Amino acid sequence: VHNVIFKDSQEPSILVAQEIASLIKDKEANHQPCVLGLATGSSPIKVYEELVRMHKEEGLSFSNVVTFNLDEYYPMDKSNIQSYFYFMHEHLFNHIDILPENINIPNGKVSADDLYQYCIDYEMKIKAVGGLDFQLLGIGRTGHIGFNEPGSHLNSRTRNITLDHITRVDAAPAFLGIDNVPRKAITMGIGTVMSAKRIVLLAWGANKAEIVKETIEGNITPEVPATYLQNHGNTTFILDEGASLEL
Ligand code: F6R
Repeated sequence: VHNVIFKDSQEPSILVAQEIASLIKDKEANHQPCVLGLATGSSPIKVYEELVRMHKEEGLSFSNVVTFNLDEYYPMDKSNIQSYFYFMHEHLFNHIDILPENINIPNGKVSADDLYQYCIDYEMKIKAVGGLDFQLLGIGRTGHIGFNEPGSHLNSRTRNITLDHITRVDAAPAFLGIDNVPRKAITMGIGTVMSAKRIVLLAWGANKAEIVKETIEGNITPEVPATYLQNHGNTTFILDEGASLEL
């Protein structure tokens, strides 16, 4: 695992977008799909902004890109502005030439009866396209990646989980109060994320400093699921000055 520290989030976000763009082009040159695992939240917003800019100004095409989002609240309707479906379209998909059928975001409206099979099918779909070439991650203050909250097993796969209280507190402003924050979510598992060939985790700001220290310097433990990444051979943690304050 490499750690790199930048002054703020601007420059590294552009560098990450450039890495993704060259991966897309390499795959395109070899007539292969480029399979991207994507995150929502504040951390990747500037990466998506830059990818949109590259599409509009430099002709970067996403026609060979297949995406799998990490997670979605449950239950959650696509049309809800708090949904991750809405977020991804607003920040990325509405502005690029990705084929709608190549976009995969866990469906927050799948019925309770179908949920178990739905999660297995999500995994199978990732496998069927050759696995994740690149996984973009943020990190929650609980140490979650995706919505793999403390207690998540190394071998966990896509499943329905219960959100940690701290995660719901952090989401409360977007939902205009904690009572409106869903209690559950569908998330890719730790095992799903760890299978990615390349992982980049973004953390910005001093409110991430403590969990970043535990993630990078602490023992590997299910209590801080992001610590599992210490055992992934091709992971980079990209931090700004605030997030690296405790290192
Ligand atoms: C979002 C996700 C979460 C976030 C994390 C950090 O799809 O999987 O793990 O990456 O909660 O969120 P922000 O970036 O808003 O601080």
